[in-house]
Amino acid sequence: MHLLEQRIREEGVVKKGNVLKVDSFLNHRIDIRLLDAIGEEFHRLFSDAGVTKIVTIEASGISVAVMAARYFDVPVVFAKKSKTAQLDSDVYSARIHSFTHNNDYTAIISRKYLSSEDTVLVIDDFLANGEAVRGLREILREAGATLAGVGIVIEKGFQGGGDRLRAEGVHVESLALVDSMNAETGEISFR
Ligand code: G4P
Repeated sequence: MHLLEQRIREEGVVKKGNVLKVDSFLNHRIDIRLLDAIGEEFHRLFSDAGVTKIVTIEASGISVAVMAARYFDVPVVFAKKSKTAQLDSDVYSARIHSFTHNNDYTAIISRKYLSSEDTVLVIDDFLANGEAVRGLREILREAGATLAGVGIVIEKGFQGGGDRLRAEGVHVESLALVDSMNAETGEISFR
């Protein structure tokens, strides 16, 4: 998506440890016009998939999921992050490891809000190693829900998560796919 790549080039800051900061439009201040265009693009890409629900993880995925959901006219369900291992029986859960933050958490979704009747589009702001998507797929499997596909705003292609999903036959659409980035020069190249 040209508009998004342009914003990343203009405002993205490459940090050490392969982290791309996009706080000015996605992760801190939110540009609602850009996010609206992103939501519309996800709808164009997945309009034939019979989506009944959009699923994401708190926190940054929520704004993107909500903007997309307006076009699909379906509810958003976001997985909550829980630090405790003690869980109620009325939730689906998956343990997720974040390589970026080097911590673990349990993602939970209430059984009330996801079922085998659902065809789910998973949406997130970033795809790096694919751990968050792996965890959400585990929850979808537990619920018996169908995965329509995965929509990502920014994929860091060099971390391999997206290609692993594609190799498994998952329909992954990333609106900006970063191939490489350099913390010293600030250079970012797209696939
Ligand atoms: P993975 O799910 O693809 O394996 O990614 P990873 O565990 O490494 O990412 C963990 C968190 O870091 C996620 O947010 C993800 O969105 C974010 N993240 C990963 N790479 C980048 C990056 O280059 N730039 C930015 N800005 N974020 C990145 P989270 O822990 O769920 O936090 P949040 O959604 O509450 O902000």
